[in-house]
Amino acid sequence: MDGNGRWARQRGLPRIEGHRRGVETVRHIVEASGQCGVRYLTLYAFSAENWKRPAAEVSALMLLLQGFLRSEVDELVAKKIRLHTIGRTAELPAAVQKELARALQATAHFTDWHLTLALNYGSRTEVADAAAAYAREVLAGREDPAQCSYEKLARHLNTAGLPDPDLVIRTSGESRISNFLLLQAAYAELVFTPVLWPDFSPDDFRSALAEYSGRERRFGATGEQLQPTASR
Ligand code: IPE
Ligand code: MG
Repeated sequence: MDGNGRWARQRGLPRIEGHRRGVETVRHIVEASGQCGVRYLTLYAFSAENWKRPAAEVSALMLLLQGFLRSEVDELVAKKIRLHTIGRTAELPAAVQKELARALQATAHFTDWHLTLALNYGSRTEVADAAAAYAREVLAGREDPAQCSYEKLARHLNTAGLPDPDLVIRTSGESRISNFLLLQAAYAELVFTPVLWPDFSPDDFRSALAEYSGRERRFGATGEQLQPTASR
């Protein structure tokens, strides 16, 4: 979800106004995902690197997050959406953690629709944490490094139990992954759009899904293997 700052600057507004509008976009895109049958939606809301921003912007983002969680929990329950988080949430302000715990608990029994918020998330710290957790299993005699596989390591990733993303969308014209789900997105389709996040509409979301639908996903195989008759 990139481009909030630029959206605000283009209008001579403070960056936080862009973030505020960005929250509106989140509501619309959660709604659109439901309509499109997207059962798993992950939003990169705050990266492990975003702490570098000016303290006032970080506090404002945390307040917005707190407000979003408080105001949205009823909506999530009404739509039967289960909330998940990935990232080191224990390092978030106590007030945010409190709202998070409430929302996670209130939605924990839902099974069909899933909204994951990446909060204080970064792939590299996630992998380091997973390696440490795996190493502890080895020390306890429960894992044998000779039998290590990606699947076994992935059980210790923040995303354990969640499917890999099929599609990753980045807004605002940047063509970067920026430490987002690096392992999980190994075979994801990537869509980059110039639209700034506050302007990203349900129609833009549907366009990205349409682009995804038109791609051939081979997962290392050949096109002929996937559609044996099509090329003859
Ligand atoms: C939102 O966009 C990303 C968040 C951390 C919430 P930015 O704040 O990165 O917007 P730009 O890149 O400055 O335009
Ligand atoms: Mg940015």
